[in-house]
Amino acid sequence: TKRSADDLRSPICCILGHVDTGKTKLLDCIRRTNVQEGEAGGITQQIGATYFPMENIRERTKELPEAANMRVPGLLVIDTPGHESFTNLRSRGSGLCDIAILVIDIMHGLEPQTIESINLLRMRKTPFIVALNKVDRLYQWKPRNNAPIRTTLQEQERHTKSEFETRTKQIMVQLQEQSLNSELYWKNKDKRKAVSIIPTSAISGEGIPDLLYLLVLLTQEMMEKKLMYVSEVECTVLEVKVVEGLGTTIDVVLVNGVLHEGDQIVVCGMQGPIVTTIRALLTPHPMKELRVKGSYQHHKELKAAQGIKITAQGLEHAIAGTQLYVVGEDEDVETIKEEAMKDMKSVMGRIDKSGEGVCVQASTLGSLEALLEFLKTPDVNIPVSGISIGPVHKKDIMRASVMLERKKEYATILAFDVKVTPEARELAEELGVKIFTADIIYHLFDQFTAYLKNTRE
Ligand code: GTP
Ligand code: MG
Ligand code: NA
Repeated sequence: TKRSADDLRSPICCILGHVDTGKTKLLDCIRRTNVQEGEAGGITQQIGATYFPMENIRERTKELPEAANMRVPGLLVIDTPGHESFTNLRSRGSGLCDIAILVIDIMHGLEPQTIESINLLRMRKTPFIVALNKVDRLYQWKPRNNAPIRTTLQEQERHTKSEFETRTKQIMVQLQEQSLNSELYWKNKDKRKAVSIIPTSAISGEGIPDLLYLLVLLTQEMMEKKLMYVSEVECTVLEVKVVEGLGTTIDVVLVNGVLHEGDQIVVCGMQGPIVTTIRALLTPHPMKELRVKGSYQHHKELKAAQGIKITAQGLEHAIAGTQLYVVGEDEDVETIKEEAMKDMKSVMGRIDKSGEGVCVQASTLGSLEALLEFLKTPDVNIPVSGISIGPVHKKDIMRASVMLERKKEYATILAFDVKVTPEARELAEELGVKIFTADIIYHLFDQFTAYLKNTRE
């Protein structure tokens, strides 16, 4: 197919920022969903994807007269965690996107992961806008639900306006300290030179029309060429999940190209490359999160950009965070298999060479990387001798039990966001292998250090 301005794919937008600045809540507000309240500890620990069709964006921006000429088919928005342990997922999200929203809490200003996110975006030269969120927390703010931000700002009392101005100026100075020029978006003359700031509230929806409008405008204006649809497939596996009635499925982000039912694909697996055939292509309904359980729509083919659930045989050992390849007509499967296994090598390099250390198990390659990164930090410093992805089985207990002879306290499995089978539990009990499970990464550390302290006393 020929590339043209009449055939643009949906831009991919990633949402980044420090923990609890309101990234998920902003998306909930646009979707009219409640994903955030269902998260363990109220923190995001996975990458999520949501498709916003243009009709919904039109509806949300109708009070903005300038928002008329929107030519992209929709927006695919990727939510990322702000917690410090998830640098790799922020990095993965920022690597997938065309544009990003950097969320800053207006009451807190720049925080460590704000700066980390700025550096990630800068490294990849990804354009971004700033959502200056939680404006409703300014003293005596009078909300007007879902209003364009300038309308609602005009209606505030003088002292509220003045607090807004002071805080915004302070944050602009902080951004300047990171060598970033910034400006409130309606005053921003050159959107390529200065970062646009959009004040928002995820609670009242104020500023949401402006945010959506600006995302569409900037992607259309600044990256039309990049958004011209190409047929070559570019696709990343976000999650591997067992779904009742479907078996093991993979959630992917299709960045470019088309996937069809029946396509032969190759993905990276724990036990080598997986070659299989797409049985079904599923999406959540528009405006729903891919990572949240629900009903799915079936498709014969899907065009980028989309968040997709794929069902196929043999996906049990597929690894999240890796690339998916489609085997084209005259392509060599062997070459593609080699290519697919490259991501795995970097993680294997993290295992302690001495062979002494705990075993670590997580639900995805992404969370495993995060956990390994966390265990490596100087204040934590826990050596790892074995890794695994997926539920804890008997064989994992056997492997951990090797440490009983060498360093008893390391005969331990730190299991993040995975189930432990009853047989595995029984065997662990019998052999004296400790299992710590948690759905928040740093709780694993707390449990393990408490245990170490106990055994050493
Ligand atoms: P992580 O994904 O864990 O990094 O956090 P997050 O950035 O997704 O923030 P989240 O959506 O979990 O919101 C954190 C808290 O801030 C929740 O209690 C929200 O209800 C609250 N919150 C988010 N946005 C706003 C806002 O605009 N105004 C007010 N008042 N509270 C907000
Ligand atoms: Mg979140
Ligand atoms: Na949170």
